[in-house]
Amino acid sequence: MSTISFDPSFLSSVIPFYSTSKFKIPAKTRLKPFSTVEFGSKTVKASSLTTTTTTTADHDSNQNCNCGSYGRRGLIFMATLPFLLPLYESMEGFDVKAAESNTSEYLLIKDEVSKVLSKGKAAGVLRLAFHDAGTFEMDDNSGGMNGSLVYELDRPENAGLKKSLKILEKVKNEVDTVQPVSWADLIAVAGAEAVSLCGGPAIPVQLGRLDSVVPDPEGKLPEESLDAFALKQSFQRKGLSTQELVALSGAHTLGSKGFGNPTVFDNSYYKILLEKPWMSSAGMSSMIGLPSDRALVEDDECIRWITKYANNQNMFFEDFRNSYIKLVNSGARWKKL
Ligand code: HEM
Repeated sequence: MSTISFDPSFLSSVIPFYSTSKFKIPAKTRLKPFSTVEFGSKTVKASSLTTTTTTTADHDSNQNCNCGSYGRRGLIFMATLPFLLPLYESMEGFDVKAAESNTSEYLLIKDEVSKVLSKGKAAGVLRLAFHDAGTFEMDDNSGGMNGSLVYELDRPENAGLKKSLKILEKVKNEVDTVQPVSWADLIAVAGAEAVSLCGGPAIPVQLGRLDSVVPDPEGKLPEESLDAFALKQSFQRKGLSTQELVALSGAHTLGSKGFGNPTVFDNSYYKILLEKPWMSSAGMSSMIGLPSDRALVEDDECIRWITKYANNQNMFFEDFRNSYIKLVNSGARWKKL
């Protein structure tokens, strides 16, 4: 796994300037879409890190200049400095990992997962990822993708997941003999592999999550009886938008809830939602979907995304991939390199 190293030495050369100068925080800064990265107990956005590395490179390229004149780059740098200094404090002693999908560790995990995973088992394995990560609450930074699911299998919301976790136990035993893997990483990678095995998008998963040694707080996963408003609120508390709620719910295209072929990951979930087959009294149609799936079609904001995904599978795949990556990074605590 490669790392983006943060070179703290550049700060020392500008700190005198920082402490004596006054400048305004820019009203608008160019930010890339962020994912959450955790340093110790502090959470920062990867977008800030982008600024950091860019700025470091800029600084390096200007090392030999006469810095009496800062120019446009210098001004941008000085304007971002107020953000960099607190970040520097929280980054001390840590490296930032870049997501890579071809390290030997990643390939080993994927290889072992592929030996035990079949299309028939994919739905249960993907569901594990939501049930581990979906306990995350932003307010108090509790729960999240931390492998605590292994202590929570007797909870009613996790009924049926024991057998899926058992499948991954074999993988863990194999991988651990070469290089220890956390449950959190393993579940995140296995969920992604389940999606691609069934024809969905390839999803690169960053490695390095630490496992919790205690269960997460109870009652944090959304219940299937929630209406759209409550589902949206529940996801919002986890840092997930309405769009991400709708995209991630597309996972229900796999499994036995009646959204097309149970072992094919495609956009039939959205196409079938729009048809509202449960309104029909004819045979099995009335059984299709969970109350939470049906609730989404009754919400104006949700239905806009449902319609887009029903008409454009590529868009669904793209949004599912991004939302899944965000989900499995929720609340994660990362290994110190
Ligand atoms: C929006 C809130 C959600 C609720 C209320 C919910 C609830 C449920 C329930 C009650 C089941 C049926 C379990 C059973 O048949 O025993 C289920 C199945 C499933 N859920 Fe969700 N879920 C939600 C979101 C998600 C998300 C975000 C994912 C993954 C990204 C996911 C993945 C799955 C999968 C793959 C299945 C099929 C499992 C199988 O057939 O073995 N769910 N979900």
